[in-house]
Amino acid sequence: MIFDSHAHYDDEAFDEDRVMVLKELKENHIIGVLNCGASIEGARASVNLAKENDFFYAAVGIHPEFADKFDDSMLKELEELADCEKVRAIGEIGLDYFHEENPSREIQKKVFRTQMQLAKKLSLPVVIHDRDAHEDTLNILKEFPEVKGVVHCFSGSVEFARECLRIGYYIGITGVVTFKNAKKVVEVVKEIPMDRLLVETDCPYMAPVPYRGKRNRSEYIANIIETISSIRSISVEEVQDNTIKNARELLKIK
Ligand code: NI
Repeated sequence: MIFDSHAHYDDEAFDEDRVMVLKELKENHIIGVLNCGASIEGARASVNLAKENDFFYAAVGIHPEFADKFDDSMLKELEELADCEKVRAIGEIGLDYFHEENPSREIQKKVFRTQMQLAKKLSLPVVIHDRDAHEDTLNILKEFPEVKGVVHCFSGSVEFARECLRIGYYIGITGVVTFKNAKKVVEVVKEIPMDRLLVETDCPYMAPVPYRGKRNRSEYIANIIETISSIRSISVEEVQDNTIKNARELLKIK
């Protein structure tokens, strides 16, 4: 059994066969999926997927890539969407300094803080996107000690992981851990306490080996779990059980 803590099944990569894929996920023992909005359209679509599929949950938020589109009416709509009981997090939100064409750092930080504030107000956890912005991300997370969440698709060092763990965050591991050149995240996986580890697809992207480059889907998390179990020399079941328990705890799923 698998809980996919970060997916984008609203993505156009699934437009052709979404109904079939979701049916197969359920048949293949995917017991939970957190579908994360990136845009306001993605947030709406995530809520709809969660309403239509019992094993789906939604996160609503605006990705830093779209921070320049963020305004008061969007903030209001996110809050209204979060009224649905299947919405279990605010996300994905954060900072992305990797792509030069992204909105300015100042705009990204402002929109990130506004959405952290929303999470605090609604007592919801957050799903954090951090790319090449570790220090600024951590500083903003520390401004909101009441808020907890997951740093998804973790790409930082062991030292950065320790800082995130220390302030109560979970660490999300994607297919990157199965890549040949994945030295940094392998070191991180050795460090994370088992009660803070989450697994995710970030589908349609980030497919693990041997599906690297293909459209990703939640069943492939089995390969991530297998890799983690061999890195830590523990059983596949132990990784499965812990990651499911952790996702349920973070998202308050009974
Ligand atoms: Ni994502």
